[in-house]
Amino acid sequence: MSGLHTENLTKRFGDLVAVEDVSLTVEAGELLCLLGPSGCGKSTTLRMLAGLETPTEGEVYINDTEVTDQPPYKQDSSMVFQEWALFPHKSVIENVAFGLKMQGMDKKARREKAREMLEVMEMGEFGDASPTDLSGGQQQRVALARSLATESPVLLLDEPLSNLDKRLKEQMQIEIKEIHSQFQRTTIHVTHDQDEAFTIGDKIGIMNDGRLVQVGPPREVYNNPKNKFVEEFLGETNFIKGSVEQVVSDGVVVSTGIGEPIRIPLQNRSITEGDRIHVSIRPEILSLEPATAETNTVRADGSHNFTATGTVTNLLYRGSTVRYYVDVGDTSMFVEKTVGDSSIDEGSTVELQWQATGLLCFDRSGDKIKVQS
Ligand SMILES: Nc1ncnc2c1ncn2[C@@H]1O[C@H](COP(=O)(O)OP(=O)(O)OP(=O)(O)O)[C@@H](O)[C@H]1O
Ligand SMILES: [Mg+2]
Repeated sequence: MSGLHTENLTKRFGDLVAVEDVSLTVEAGELLCLLGPSGCGKSTTLRMLAGLETPTEGEVYINDTEVTDQPPYKQDSSMVFQEWALFPHKSVIENVAFGLKMQGMDKKARREKAREMLEVMEMGEFGDASPTDLSGGQQQRVALARSLATESPVLLLDEPLSNLDKRLKEQMQIEIKEIHSQFQRTTIHVTHDQDEAFTIGDKIGIMNDGRLVQVGPPREVYNNPKNKFVEEFLGETNFIKGSVEQVVSDGVVVSTGIGEPIRIPLQNRSITEGDRIHVSIRPEILSLEPATAETNTVRADGSHNFTATGTVTNLLYRGSTVRYYVDVGDTSMFVEKTVGDSSIDEGSTVELQWQATGLLCFDRSGDKIKVQS
């Protein structure tokens, strides 16, 4: 049984298509992170799922029952927003019990349930406090306790952690994951933070321009991005423009801005000479060493190991790692290494190495081209 699914969900505001033809399935008990740039339609999708917005076209199903035209208070979902929306004049416990009151539960039972949920969120001692006296993270826990209390089968979280500082955010990510495994509620968690999606999602769904581009387990999407947009959005990478010089039996020979042509084992037979492609060289497949006299050239060898020599133009310290920006001819590349790992400085001549099997290639329109394994 699917916990939640949509068919061809579309929302237009006048001429603007905010959500276009989204068919999405979240299995019962699964946590899906919906990820995408600002304005791509994440909140509008969630609002339609919650019944707060009427779809222009398409259907919404919860536990295989259609709920598209049901008003929100009848729909079995509960939603937590970025701005938390606690009632400032009610106590914490009244806030948590609010949804239960709406469901008609008697006062004693709902206070008991609310207390239990506050305990789960480690907020038990704050029941009588006013939400205005709580920190951001504490308010967020109350909002989560409130949405969990109703026991609705679907939990919809719209960037619930975006107002928290880094440390608290990471702590709450772990808590959301734990609570999810404890309660097994079908959950959609919207974020535009890739790390967050990878930390907590059983699956991630990537949206762009109103459309759902790709859905799958985080590793699968990361290792096999469907197109250039997903590759660019999921991780920072070195994109290099290339042009196909020659099609050979086991792939193609591509000339790029970084030295001699590279041989890439591409599967796609529709690639022909002269085609322009984009090659993504992720920083994690690049190794960086001080250049030695013998390797001070840019070359490609038959074993698909590639070497390019460049100059370090900048170092950027990012906590435990340092990012090296390296100019190779006209192309600027970056590599990350652990701090304290090397003595390479700005201005050093360095050698970059990588293997062709770790490359991802995209055609002119951005679709992924399969690499032979
Ligand atoms: N009520 C509305 N009336 C008109 N346009 C709207 C309305 N709600 C959303 N939009 C538009 O629909 C598009 C999608 O908006 P939405 O809020 O769903 O994006 P989002 O992915 O949640 O973005 P963000 O990450 O910034 O929260 C945007 O272009 C937005 O301006
Ligand atoms: Mg939004």
